[in-house]
Amino acid sequence: MTKISAAITAVGGYVPPDVLTNLDLEKMVDTNDEWILSRTGIKERRILKGEGLATSDMAVEAVNELLRKRGITANDLDLIIFCTVTGDKIFPSSACILADKIGAKNAFGYDLSAACSGFLFGLETATRFIECGRYKNVLVVGGDKMSSIIDYTDRNTCIIFGDGLGCVLLEPTEEENIGVIDSVLKIDGSGRNFLYQKAGGSQYPPTHETIDAREHFVYQDGKTVFKFAVTGMADVSAQIMERNNLTADDIAWLVPHQANLRIIDATAERMGLGKDKVMINIDHFGNTTNGTLPLLLWEWEKKLKKGDNLVLAAFGGGFTWGAIYIKWAYNS
Ligand code: UT7
Repeated sequence: MTKISAAITAVGGYVPPDVLTNLDLEKMVDTNDEWILSRTGIKERRILKGEGLATSDMAVEAVNELLRKRGITANDLDLIIFCTVTGDKIFPSSACILADKIGAKNAFGYDLSAACSGFLFGLETATRFIECGRYKNVLVVGGDKMSSIIDYTDRNTCIIFGDGLGCVLLEPTEEENIGVIDSVLKIDGSGRNFLYQKAGGSQYPPTHETIDAREHFVYQDGKTVFKFAVTGMADVSAQIMERNNLTADDIAWLVPHQANLRIIDATAERMGLGKDKVMINIDHFGNTTNGTLPLLLWEWEKKLKKGDNLVLAAFGGGFTWGAIYIKWAYNS
């Protein structure tokens, strides 16, 4: 029997128009443009503004673009995997809300929570659904309205994050050696207290006290997360190269999570890649959590050629991390 593989066949993206620059942040917390740029590589990020607007509203824009580009309708979707840590509500899932808003009547779906590695885990899950032969059009959405959980009085976190969302469509292909080829994915819950939301879940439901203590915002022990991220992302990226006999020359692009330019540089260095092979959007979007990887693919889509070897890599809260090797399936 011919082997069915999963290939990305379309990409969509959306970032809100409002920009929050380092200079804006200088007016909000004790920081400065020079520090932010040199320590993280970020100049500005996007913020979703507007009463009642949520992560699913960004998804509607991105997914409609994707459907238009691929020439299919929402009713052609079989499955929606919505990777986010800022779903519109705790429940129902943002996948349900999105399906209703775009009119996807034939899909089932759910949300996937893995912090900054969510999109990678979603891509892996979608791949297996395609490979089993039963699903034809699987949508993976990754994105966050991080501004809804960021404390704009905390300079440790507010300088890093931004809002944005991207999505990809996976379809089956019988073509050999194309699409999603391999993955190395990991979790280590002993890292759970270094990057997280202290309250709002079932352990500490919202109370006046938790709100006064600002425990519904992102807490990050930046130094510790940095230490784990810088080795974690490089380790899995090197591992996936080794496992697939890839040299630096074989790789067209590293598609890395964008939490800190120094983490990205360390990963690229470990892989032996020059800066010209590394996708970067941290300077203009900051860390968009689940949005980062699909937004990079969205911005770079026109430069990608069929057969290009891509390594997608991420590290996030949990801890969660991993790398996925893709052979790009189409020319734009
Ligand atoms: O996306 C998921 C995974 N997340 C990550 O991978 C994030 C990993 N962590 C990081 O990227 C970095 O740790 C940060 C960017 C968050 C912080 O950078 P850092 O180089 O680790 O800074 P630090 O926390 O060690 O602080 C260095 C100094 C401190 O001052 P002293 O003690 O040396 O006088 C801080 O108080 O910089 C100070 N500082 C700031 N100064 C200006 C900390 N934050 C700021 C700020 N502006 N925003």
